[in-house]
Amino acid sequence: MKQPTADQPEPHLFVIFGVTGDLAERKLLPAFYHVTRRQGCEGDSYLLGVGRRTWTDDEFRERAKQALARSGIRGDELEEWCDDHVFFHGLEDYDTPAGFQSLRERIESIEHNCGLPENRIYYLALPPETFTGAVTGLGESGLAGGDGWSRLVIEKPFGRDLETAQALDSTIHRYFLEEQIYRIDHYLGKTTVQNMLVFRFANGLFEPLWNRDRIARIEITVGEDLGVGTRGGYYETAGALRDMVQNHILQLISLVAMEPPTAFEAESIRSEKVKVVRSITETSHEDVVLGQYAAGCIKGEQVPRYRDEPKVAPDSETETYAALRLHVDTWRWHGVPFYVRTGKRLPERTTKIAIVFREAPLPLFRAFQTEPTPNVLVISIQPNEGFDLFFEVKTPDRNFRLDTKRLTFRYHEQFGRIPEAYETLIADVVAGDQTLFVHTDEVDASWRLLTPLLENRPAVREYEAGSWGPDEIYRLLPDWADFCLTESNTSTHGGVS
Ligand code: BG6
Repeated sequence: MKQPTADQPEPHLFVIFGVTGDLAERKLLPAFYHVTRRQGCEGDSYLLGVGRRTWTDDEFRERAKQALARSGIRGDELEEWCDDHVFFHGLEDYDTPAGFQSLRERIESIEHNCGLPENRIYYLALPPETFTGAVTGLGESGLAGGDGWSRLVIEKPFGRDLETAQALDSTIHRYFLEEQIYRIDHYLGKTTVQNMLVFRFANGLFEPLWNRDRIARIEITVGEDLGVGTRGGYYETAGALRDMVQNHILQLISLVAMEPPTAFEAESIRSEKVKVVRSITETSHEDVVLGQYAAGCIKGEQVPRYRDEPKVAPDSETETYAALRLHVDTWRWHGVPFYVRTGKRLPERTTKIAIVFREAPLPLFRAFQTEPTPNVLVISIQPNEGFDLFFEVKTPDRNFRLDTKRLTFRYHEQFGRIPEAYETLIADVVAGDQTLFVHTDEVDASWRLLTPLLENRPAVREYEAGSWGPDEIYRLLPDWADFCLTESNTSTHGGVS
């Protein structure tokens, strides 16, 4: 066995619960394979898939090869790695202690045969209602301890309100210490989301402007053109507030609004982020618009209304859209509104953060029939990852006419491929780095903020699929910086290029 170096993780067994599911096949298997190769630890990283099927190791290996091939990974090395390093164990359900005893025996036998220390990662890619059973099974069968280290990775949703999140957390803490728990919010694995820290704290240029003196408002848009697809059953229990706002959007707000951490390490960063969520004041109905998509047309294709999607109740009141005006009541942000909106069946898939700066103070150019638009910095989380800074220039004629132009940075133009979010997160779990994972305090603060709203939701309005949401969002903010959202766009002055 190779000696681990700083970049090379220790030998371990990576156990995926729910390995027969879509997330495991599409994201986790390819990400784990890429991570083992990138870190040169493919010889010492073993994978045990756990699922409710009765597959043999060989049957699972074939499926794993097919899943990896679908994501573009092929070749002799892959075949060899799967044949030697991949195993399957069937578990009838996640509530029966006897099942976990047999899992323990299986894990110990793999470790013995492969010469592995008891270093284990348990990844729960499971439906949320099975989390408690799986954690209890691991804990009661002694799998949370052992002579090496063990880490628990848990997917969202982490609870469905404050009470259920606290109950799940207390079950987990019965068996695992906080240092062993990796709560996933896959947005934190995105390079552009992490780049918020670099953008803000490694550049002297922006931080002095990053406050209520210079910034008028912040807009966050997380749009998806897809509907709920085959996930109607889950989505009916969630809705946009639980599915997107409680986690991804609050993480984005935290990174935009946090104070500089004292050190670049997990505890400092996470403790600054949680202060932001705790500083957000409670929302009233005035500050919230909820919507549900009606039928409409997206990119030339007619799509059905939400209530006609599979596994959705015909009279469903679930929100597929949420827009909120939030206030981060700190010294830095007092009086600066944060507008956020997220929804399914919007015109396109786009996640953008627009920092709208205060306008220049003197209306010097009014005589030339043009008012300056404020400078806007748009951080594109996806797609076309990068950022644009919109600013005013003089047009090349005799008058002082203004036009809005932009400076642009795009990741793919400078760096080529950027890693998939899950690749980054799995690499960090394997390395034991919790910086990009959600601390229990953050979960607690986010549910404390959202639970009162979930318990007293405003009425859900219809919006046409392919629009930016219900008309009521223009009551929250009449002029959303929509011109910043697309690559080829138009400003109030005409063209922006
Ligand atoms: C998931 C939500 O967490 O994030 C989905 O459950 C949503 O409903 C997805 O579609 C969006 O992720 P991304 O990375 O495509 O923006």
